[in-house]
Amino acid sequence: MTEQMKRAMNARHTVRQFDGTSLSESEKSILRSRVDELNKEYDLSIALIESEKTPVNFMGKTLLGGKGVYSYFVLAADDRDGIDEMLGYAGSDLCLYAQMNGLNTWWMAGTFNRKYVEGFVSGKKIVSIIAVGHGKTQGAPHKSKEKDQVSKFEGEEPEWFKNGVEAALLAPTALNKQAFNITGKGNKVSLTYKSGPMSGIDKGIVKHHFELGAGKENFEWV
Ligand SMILES: Cc1cc2nc3c(=O)[nH]c(=O)nc-3n(C[C@H](O)[C@H](O)[C@H](O)COP(=O)(O)O)c2cc1C
Repeated sequence: MTEQMKRAMNARHTVRQFDGTSLSESEKSILRSRVDELNKEYDLSIALIESEKTPVNFMGKTLLGGKGVYSYFVLAADDRDGIDEMLGYAGSDLCLYAQMNGLNTWWMAGTFNRKYVEGFVSGKKIVSIIAVGHGKTQGAPHKSKEKDQVSKFEGEEPEWFKNGVEAALLAPTALNKQAFNITGKGNKVSLTYKSGPMSGIDKGIVKHHFELGAGKENFEWV
C-alpha cells in the first residue's frame, strides 16, 4: 500500500476539468470505505457527495476553467483545535488513494459555492472540498521550490530525511505556496508553516507527504 501511495504522490497533479461521467459503483464504494475509516480514526465528518449541480463557483468556472465537477469530498468536522491540519492530513490521504485507483482530484478551499455545499453537510466546519473524478488530462507537475529552500538537517542528512523532504515538495499547497520549513536532528523532525488562512490545511498535507516519503518508523515529530 505505501509503495503505491508513494507512486501516487508523483502521479497526482491538480486537474480542473473532468469528463463529467459519474463515479462507478465500485469507485464510490472504495472511496466511501476510505472516508469511513478516516472519519472513525480521527473523529471527522468527511462526506463524499454527488450532486446534480456543480459546487464550483463562478471564479472557478470562468477564470480557472473548472468543468465536469459533480463528485467531491467535503472536508468537514466539529470545530476544534488543530482541525484544519487534521482535515488536511486526511484529505491528502483521500487524494492519493483516489489517484491510486485511477481517479483525479482538485482541492478547492476558495473556488466553491460554500452555501450550496453546506446544504449537504450542516452544522460542521467545512475547510475545503476536493473534486474527485475522471480527469480529461492527468495534469502537470507544479513549479517547485528546491530542497534547500525548505529544509535543513543538523549533521549528516540521512536518506529518510531527504526522501521525506522530496515527498513534501510534491504535496499540493494553496496557491502553490510551499511555505513550509522542515528541520531535522537525530531522529527528531519539526515542521512549521508560514501563517496564513490555509496554513493549517497545508501543514497537514505536507506532514502526510513527509511521513510517506520518510517512513514513519524512522523519525518522531517534535
Ligand atoms: C488547501 C488547498 C486549497 C486550494 N484551493 C484551491 C482553490 O480554491 N481553487 C483552485 O483552483 N485551486 C486550489 N488549490 C489547488 C492548488 O492551486 C494546487 O494544489 C497547487 O497549485 C499545486 O499544484 P498541484 O496540486 O498540481 O501539485 C488548493 C490547494 C490546496 C492544497
